[in-house]
Amino acid sequence: MALYLNGFKEENIILASKYIRDGKLVAFPTETVYGLGANALDKIAVAKIFEVKNRPNFDPLIVHISNKEDIYKYVESVNDDVYKLIQVFWPGPLTLVLKKKNIIPDIVTAGLDTVAIRMPSNPIALKLIKYSELPIAAPSANPFNYLSPTTANAVLESIGDKIDVILDGGKTQFGLESTIITINEENQIILLRPGALEIEKIEKLLNKKVMLYSNDKILSPGQTKHHYQPHKKLFIIKNYKQSNANKLIKKIEKQFDINKIYFLLTFKNIELEQYKDIHKLNFTIDYLSKDDNYYEIASNLFEKLYIADKSDKEIILVNEVAKESLGLAIMNRLEKAATDYIFLD
Ligand code: TXA
Ligand code: MG
Repeated sequence: MALYLNGFKEENIILASKYIRDGKLVAFPTETVYGLGANALDKIAVAKIFEVKNRPNFDPLIVHISNKEDIYKYVESVNDDVYKLIQVFWPGPLTLVLKKKNIIPDIVTAGLDTVAIRMPSNPIALKLIKYSELPIAAPSANPFNYLSPTTANAVLESIGDKIDVILDGGKTQFGLESTIITINEENQIILLRPGALEIEKIEKLLNKKVMLYSNDKILSPGQTKHHYQPHKKLFIIKNYKQSNANKLIKKIEKQFDINKIYFLLTFKNIELEQYKDIHKLNFTIDYLSKDDNYYEIASNLFEKLYIADKSDKEIILVNEVAKESLGLAIMNRLEKAATDYIFLD
């Protein structure tokens, strides 16, 4: 079983950094989700990450650094846009995919000639990297294709018996992974994965559009269709509004046994709660946010999906949000988690 350490204690971070230096695996909090870290320069240590995650080894990892200047050690060149981006958004939830230097082992990048790099803002993560004096390669600390962990407990329960250390830093701030971008030869910014940093902010800073990557070729290998799947069936409710709760209930009762439903909604709906009480039903209603606050929804998303997935209900229903600002990343994760849609008109 992993050594479970309180990450708010300096001596525990120092201890964990020794494990990193020894080629061991340490789960640690970042501002986005928990990462499963290893020395990025140690091929054997990195190979253990793939083994624990059961991750196909064509899926490259993000390299985490603790100060901006370290980017020059690992990437070939930093152009003006990249420079601006890291001045403004690092430390923080932005990952850059750039041409790598040879020092980064191929196993980290799955043989690609680019490396994904970011400087996280979580103080425990920053100290862990700093004390280990190494770049840390880390994917999200979940089994492959499962929900990403936003608490140390979720890490413990899913892979705690396979790793060396868990640094508990409480619930993560954003609850969604970093935004990943790359820059092509024409100096266009291409979005590889929507995430905790809104693309609108990138566009404003650079004064250019971020291109949404859509192509048959999977540029970011981890972005497969079913990447964030809970074990239970998840349906996305389209066009759910305060005014159509009745329609939702009718539709659901036609299709499912309503008592087996776990509703995970983004705004409070009294009608649905009253219907449950009046008819003495025992479906579950929980809220990602009570008033459609996207930061709140994002920070609760994986945690609440995880709880729903472990509950005694059989089907999880989540209503959609608009695909703008953080909603883009929220819907990206939900669409990958979903089995199908429920349409309301
Ligand atoms: O917020 C995050 O980014 C978290 C925390 C722990 O930092 N990490 C994370 O890592 O989400 P992971 O491994 O779950 O997702 C990283 C994604 C994968 O989809 C992978 O395919 C993509 O980054 N990626 C990594 N290196 C790449 C590269 N060289 N080119 C394209 N995509 C890359
Ligand atoms: Mg992941």
